[in-house]
Amino acid sequence: MTLEIVILAAGKGSRMKSDLPKVLHTLAGKSLLEHVLTVTDQLKPMRIHIVIGHQGEQVKTSIESCQIEADLNWVIQQQQLGTGHAVAQALPDIDPESTVLIMAGDVPLIEPSTLIPLCELKADINLLTAELVDPSGLGRIIRQGHNGPVTAIVEHKDASEVQRTVREINTGVMAARATDLADWLSRVKNNNAQNEYYLPDIIALAVSDDKKVNACVTDDAIQVTGINSRVELARLERQYQTRIAQQLMKEGVGLADPGRIDVRGRLNAGEDCFIDINCLFEQTVKLGNRVHIGPNVIIRNSEISDDCRIEANSMIDNAMIAQGCNVGPFARIRPDTQLLAGSRIGNFVEIKKTIIGKGSKVNHLSYVGDSLVGERVNIGAGVITCNYDGAYKHQTVIGDDAFVGSDCQLIAPVEIGSGATIGAGSTIRKNAPHDQLTLTHSKQVSVKGWRRPAKSLTK
Ligand code: UD1
Ligand code: MG
Repeated sequence: MTLEIVILAAGKGSRMKSDLPKVLHTLAGKSLLEHVLTVTDQLKPMRIHIVIGHQGEQVKTSIESCQIEADLNWVIQQQQLGTGHAVAQALPDIDPESTVLIMAGDVPLIEPSTLIPLCELKADINLLTAELVDPSGLGRIIRQGHNGPVTAIVEHKDASEVQRTVREINTGVMAARATDLADWLSRVKNNNAQNEYYLPDIIALAVSDDKKVNACVTDDAIQVTGINSRVELARLERQYQTRIAQQLMKEGVGLADPGRIDVRGRLNAGEDCFIDINCLFEQTVKLGNRVHIGPNVIIRNSEISDDCRIEANSMIDNAMIAQGCNVGPFARIRPDTQLLAGSRIGNFVEIKKTIIGKGSKVNHLSYVGDSLVGERVNIGAGVITCNYDGAYKHQTVIGDDAFVGSDCQLIAPVEIGSGATIGAGSTIRKNAPHDQLTLTHSKQVSVKGWRRPAKSLTK
């Protein structure tokens, strides 16, 4: 059996009230459509057909920058005449013998394990349905008798009062053979409340053809929730985050408040890590064992090894932090930084594209960029590496055991020798030799009889 997948993403999503196409709105930092594609990729289909229309180019460009392995075929639906019409646009590109799995681009959290059984076609149509507490707005599954076979799907807008009491809904996910789909879709009419060609209408047609319709019911509402409005998007985001928080705690991560952590990507943590409130993790973040993350910390695509402490209000972006480091509070670690074991980065310190050697300290109010800092170096308060000449970036190299006094400017390219001491307040333009004191100084003067200006009392 060959599997091809059709993803519907042509609709405007007018209920989002947005210029951005609905399927490009993000959940946990990833567009709704990318979520769907990440899942469908795992089914290894022969091809994925994505039906686009409204702002289709924007949708295509966005997905082309994602890492999707499957062979993608972009199908244009010029006018959005309904979900049935949308699927019909893709059919000419599909092998008639293929099994076609149809999904909507606005149902982001479906899981592969839910889709796999649907793709094994034993009936003529496999339909994924769900029992919801609040089914309003969705297509209802109509069955023969109380719990008999499915006979039709009725859209909320077309449903009678009695039909609206049904809590089993159409998730929009279904599978059938391409030849059958072509036949049924050619017979779907648009005489309904929305004047659209509804995909779910193929159910009643199949039943009237004596074909077998099999409904797989799921009780996991999160997986089948479709997004139509910003309220629904925000609600699903919270539900998803709650699920991630619970998973982390099950794996042994301590969370100060599972309601106040956001993971937009993947967070892997070793044993006995603790994460305080309001932390955000983006892309892929790896924590070693016993890592302590203080409140309001943002970490993107970084690795933090055993026994590190990241204190409150720090940001870490694309960095590697070796074991036993302390960072923050209020530190900013920018891309391509490596903090080697036991180093300390304190408050209001920005580090960019720099290696900080083992046991070195930059504890207060400094900027260190494009630098190589050796081991056991002490960088005093307010030290700035002046790495940019207006056109080019230059490197600062600081040897092992150097001591840079407070409020120095190191004008790159420049090298501070190992064991060198730089006197406080110096502006260093030339290399400083190892093991010597180097300083620049201006003469200190005191002015006798000088008076501070004062306001006159007699005006
Ligand atoms: C649809 C189903 C409904 C189901 C619900 C589940 C229909 C008619 N209704 O309703 O039974 O309960 O999903 O979430 O199928 N689209 C196109 N071209 C079109 C119209 C829509 O590509 O002409 C795409 C949309 O971009 C969207 C998907 O199809 O990704 C579903 O369309 P939407 O308008 O959200 O349908 P619902 O009202 O949610
Ligand atoms: Mg929808």
